[in-house]
Amino acid sequence: MPHPLEKPSYLQLIQAGEPFRLLFPLGALMGVLGVLLWPAFVWADAPYPLLAHAGIMIQCFLGSFVIGFLGTALPRLLDVSKLRLLESLGFAATILLIATLHLSSHHQLADLGFLLLMLAFVATLLWRAKRRKDVPPPGFVLVLMGMACALLGVSLQLITNTWPQAVPSPCFVLGKRLLQQGFLLLPIMGIGAFLLPRFFGLPSRQNFPESLKPPPGWWPRAAFAAACGCGVIASFLLEAWGLLRAAWLLRAASILIYFYCEVPVHKAAFGRGSLGWSLRIALASIPIGYLSMALLPARQMTLVHIVFITGFTLLTFTVATRVVLGHSGQSEKFAQPLKSVALMAGLFVLAMATRVSADWMSELRMSHYAYASLAWAGAVGVWAIYILPSVRKPDVQ
Ligand code: HEM
Repeated sequence: MPHPLEKPSYLQLIQAGEPFRLLFPLGALMGVLGVLLWPAFVWADAPYPLLAHAGIMIQCFLGSFVIGFLGTALPRLLDVSKLRLLESLGFAATILLIATLHLSSHHQLADLGFLLLMLAFVATLLWRAKRRKDVPPPGFVLVLMGMACALLGVSLQLITNTWPQAVPSPCFVLGKRLLQQGFLLLPIMGIGAFLLPRFFGLPSRQNFPESLKPPPGWWPRAAFAAACGCGVIASFLLEAWGLLRAAWLLRAASILIYFYCEVPVHKAAFGRGSLGWSLRIALASIPIGYLSMALLPARQMTLVHIVFITGFTLLTFTVATRVVLGHSGQSEKFAQPLKSVALMAGLFVLAMATRVSADWMSELRMSHYAYASLAWAGAVGVWAIYILPSVRKPDVQ
């Protein structure tokens, strides 16, 4: 333990139960690696990167942020012992190994690594949850459902790639959707219902007094969250069995209904804070992405990048910014205009527009993939220069 007047070292900060300080920088690095595979293919004759890109973006980039965020927040919410340095280092090392396996085209081994990573992470949390002194917010049933999607999705992906005849053929698409979308979408809804009202200065319907058993009013909110989560999961089944339009409309409706009831952003005042604005863009992009897929089903692989870039990515970096600022004694910046966040959000919008429009330009398609990737990596670069260094700062200086 450092002396009370001594500044804790970076490792001591992680050891104090704040894995985000290690996993957010790693996640940013993984994301840049995953998108730069496109310029490497277009300009440097690297192999076609579809599987490595998809694997690294979901399992390593988004996986790092999910583990970093939940590994920091859940032990606090449950009032249990925090994650230790060795656990955080173990998760980080496994993510690096998974990325290396994807890069060297050992995708099955990488998927197996991700399955073990998620099993270890869920076991770490469940083991702590047995000693909990408080119940988590009711929306967190969606976090559990998201973890189940990751485990089931990657298992189905392993089975369909190893013994394709062992399961019905729609399980191929089902596994991909559970992993690539359910793993993020459901936790975003669950954590969002708890966290987002704070961004907009709205009262939260997810705050309950500390108690070991669910307090009155907890179960109806949890049941509503579970019902909306089941809507999202049913939409993956519909998509896998070929009912594409119905699937995307149901997915968009489940997300909109949940957020309309739990985080009434439409009632929030329009402040000058950059984080609030980026969050609005990110929250709108997710249903807009699915609705545009329902309008143009033949362009689904293109349009899902609205969900991936201005949806999942922008939301991830906006929430990560708030976590980093909040844990480094800079919470006064939450509601301020921040040039770095505005520039980052602008570059993500540019990356999305370039990625999506590329598929309408037959001649320039490949070079546009490369430009989109550079814009995306540029946005992460801005975040890495202006926000990320604060992961080394303790909360109270
Ligand atoms: C901004 C730069 C990006 C570019 C240029 C890009 C490009 C592409 C392309 C061209 C494909 C389809 C390849 C094919 O059909 O053969 C693809 C698929 C995919 N991308 Fe991206 N992408 C970008 C960002 C992202 C981000 C930020 C994510 C996730 C957070 C992501 C996740 C995926 C996934 C999961 C797939 C596979 C989808 C499936 O198998 O159905 N991409 N990407």
